[in-house]
Order: sequence, then structure tokens, then C-alpha cells
Amino acid sequence: MFIFKGLAIAAGIGALLSSAAWAEGLQGKVIGFSQIGSESGWRAAETSVTKAEAEARGVDLKFADAQQKQENQIKAIRGFIAQGVDAILVAPVVSTGWEEVLTEAKEAAIPVVLLDRGVDAPQDLYLTSVASDQVKEGRVAGEWLVGAVGDKDCKIVELQGTVGSSPAINRKQGFEEAIAGKANLSIIRSQTGDFTRSKGKEVMEGFIKAENGGAGICAVYAHNDDMAVGAIQAIKDAGLKPGTDILVTSIDAVPDIFAAMVAGEANATVELTPNMAGPAFDALDAFLNAGTVPEKFIITESKLYTPADDPQGEYDRRKGLGY
Ligand code: AHR
Repeated sequence: MFIFKGLAIAAGIGALLSSAAWAEGLQGKVIGFSQIGSESGWRAAETSVTKAEAEARGVDLKFADAQQKQENQIKAIRGFIAQGVDAILVAPVVSTGWEEVLTEAKEAAIPVVLLDRGVDAPQDLYLTSVASDQVKEGRVAGEWLVGAVGDKDCKIVELQGTVGSSPAINRKQGFEEAIAGKANLSIIRSQTGDFTRSKGKEVMEGFIKAENGGAGICAVYAHNDDMAVGAIQAIKDAGLKPGTDILVTSIDAVPDIFAAMVAGEANATVELTPNMAGPAFDALDAFLNAGTVPEKFIITESKLYTPADDPQGEYDRRKGLGY
């Protein structure tokens, strides 16, 4: 049976030393972090929060930016394994293609924690996954829209996240569940904007052009706020009012979407905390020092924000957090 390195150490030194190990926390531990890249404000904040959490706990964090490429992530993980790190954090860009490298980490007895996205791989290949319920996020965004339009006909355009990523797959599913059975709501166009502001704008421009200058569009659902902000610009460039002529609902709760709410240009967002590292380090601390195996899925909150929720205050609260 496979035993992670921390569990073997904890079992080996026994209960006598475990309280001393607890007191040390993650001080001096070497932890590799394979980050996707910097496609969105939320991603930048997650990177900043992870680095700050590592510093506060005395972790020697080895950071690798994959520039949106899975092959770079796999290379980075293999590098961490070769260095013999104590643990690995990975935010997987897409959900498939991880089994081989995760098996290599397992064989090296290095615990892996998934951050913010899921993988299609056997669950025994990673220690835990810290992420939101992405289906719920889509459902919350969709339920808001259902309530906002009431009986009115509403043709929706959708900006999807990165193709093959778990949030793109799950947020689509959740939103579709929310509008299922509502005959007055339908998604008329759906395309990836790759979670970036520039692509979100570009794709929205195409939607507006294809839909009679935007006249046929009632709402845009973007899988993240950055694409929504890009879409807002495209709507304005087309001479329409975002937030009024075309409703805007998205996910993340980054400062810029609250600024757009203050301006009356965005209608709803679902919060995704950028602090995935806090729960991840807590789980690793307990595991490496005491052999405590965490829950397989540590789920973060998915709270809806609208202009009724003090967007200026929310902007102010978030703006220093590295977004
Ligand atoms: O996996 C989380 C998603 O990835 C965030 O919603 C998005 O902004 C990011 O790039």
C-alpha cells in the first residue's frame, strides 16, 4: 500500500515527537507550486495569497508559472519530484492527462494538493483538493438571472472558460441546470473566451455583430469576471449600456467587477476566494506533522454579490489583495 512521505515520517517518529512537530507547523518545509499562469485578476490574487501564506508559515515555496500550458506543469511537477520537495500544490489547467505524473509523485511519496480546479484521475493520486463547488457557482449565477428576468424572454450569450478546464465544464453545467425548464430563457451563443479579458471582449464583439448589433441579446453569462469586464467594454463600444440593455452575470468577485457594479455596468457575481493556500497548508501541516488525512474535497464558499451588497465597500476590501 502506498504511504505518503509525511505519513511514514509521522508513524516512524511516533506520538512523542508529534506535538513538537505540530508546534513547528510547516516551518522549513519545501513545497512546490505549479501555477497555471496569470490569465485573470483572480489568478494573480491566488498567486499573491499563496506566496504570502507560505512566507507567514516559513515555507520555502518553489513557484513555477506554466504560462497556461499543461506540458509546463507536468515538467515543473517532475522537477519538484526530482528535488524531493515535501509536498506539491498544483492548479491544473485542464482536467485530463494527469494520471502519469500524479502516479510519479505518489511513487515518490510526495503528497499533492489540487488547488481551485479538479482532475479526472483516481482520487488516491492526490491528498486533497481545495476548490469551490463549480457546478454550484454556475447554478447561483443562473438562478440570479432567472429571478432578475422573471417572465421576460431572455436570450443569453455565454463566455466559457478554458476548454477542458473543470470550471468551464462545471460552471456551464450549473448554469444550464438553473435555467432548465424555463422556456423564456435560452443560451443562443456560447464560445470560449479562455478566462481572459481580451478574449472575452473579442468574443463578445462577435456575438454582438452576429445578433443584430446586440439587439437580440438580453444577458451575458461569463465563466469569470475578467471575461465579463471585457464583454462590458464590447457592449459599450457597440453603443449599448451594459447592466441595463444587456445584463452581466459572472464568477470570481474581483475588484474590477465591483467597480463595474458601482458604475451600473455589472449585475451579479459569485465569489471565489483566492485563498486556496490557507486550507491547503493547514491540511499539509496536519498531514505532514501528525499523519492526519484530510477530507478529499475541501469546498470553499460560493456567495452571490449584486449591486445591493455595497460594491464600493467590496472593491475597497479587495483592492490590496494582489488582484
Ligand atoms: O479555476 C478558477 C478560475 O480560473 C477562475 O474563476 C478564473 O478567473 C481563473 O482563471
